[in-house]
Amino acid sequence: MTTIDTARPTNLRLQEVFDDVLQALLDAITRHRVTWEEFRVATEWLTEAGDQGIEIPLMLDVFLSSTVDDLAHAGDGTENNLEGPYYVPDAPFLHHPYVLPQRQDEPGEKLHFAGRVRSTDGTPLAGAVLDVWQSNGLGEYSHVQPDLPEFNLRGRLVADQDGCFEFMTVVPVPYAIPTDGATGRLLAAMGREPFRPAHIHFRISHPDCEPLTTQIYFEDDPWLDADVAGAVKESLVTPVTRWADAGGGQYAGCAYDFVLSGSATAPSALRAG
Ligand code: DHB
Ligand code: FE
Repeated sequence: MTTIDTARPTNLRLQEVFDDVLQALLDAITRHRVTWEEFRVATEWLTEAGDQGIEIPLMLDVFLSSTVDDLAHAGDGTENNLEGPYYVPDAPFLHHPYVLPQRQDEPGEKLHFAGRVRSTDGTPLAGAVLDVWQSNGLGEYSHVQPDLPEFNLRGRLVADQDGCFEFMTVVPVPYAIPTDGATGRLLAAMGREPFRPAHIHFRISHPDCEPLTTQIYFEDDPWLDADVAGAVKESLVTPVTRWADAGGGQYAGCAYDFVLSGSATAPSALRAG
């Protein structure tokens, strides 16, 4: 006879959330009268996703993470946005004047990005560290695309005594999440596009404020309203202007001012106690 260990610890929160998730799935199965054949296809598809390593995290990222991220928003500074799957810690600290590391012939239009970092009470955040990463002009991220240099288009820069910063980079382009795995197959089967609008990722920190993880998008991007990850927030979209350069060509310019919550002059209520 087996004894049942009634002293096992239980996690009530897990129980509650799991029960609701399960009920939502059961309701969907019932409402749509899912057949055994469809159930079998779903099981095979999940098995395939599990065998493919990154596909389950990718799927969670694409379909669920922006809602979790919205719930994590605290304070009244710049809105946060997904970190996404491609952050790499310990990117090199760049030297002034800042240029994101790139290859000699980096594809894409030159972009000048300028802005200011301040706290919600208006104090400029001198010395704020901006950890910046983005895809290149072909929609490829270093660390993902194997032939790119290690920290291509990744780097950390420091805001000056007025909280101002500027750097040169290239204009990123809309990015298609991998289409050859289970997530891509699911999207294709539903006739949905795998694109995210072009964006630049920022993680901004200063000792006196709450750190901010966000993304900046660009006006007129065709995917702003059809982001596969559903992450775009209007407050994070900035216009791009074209300027003539000295050599008769042109470059793109944009600006964004970041606001970190928590006061630079008083201890943050969020961090207290
Ligand atoms: C996702 C987010 C990104 O920033 C990105 O470049 C690719 C995918 C995502 O949440 O799935
Ligand atoms: Fe991204």
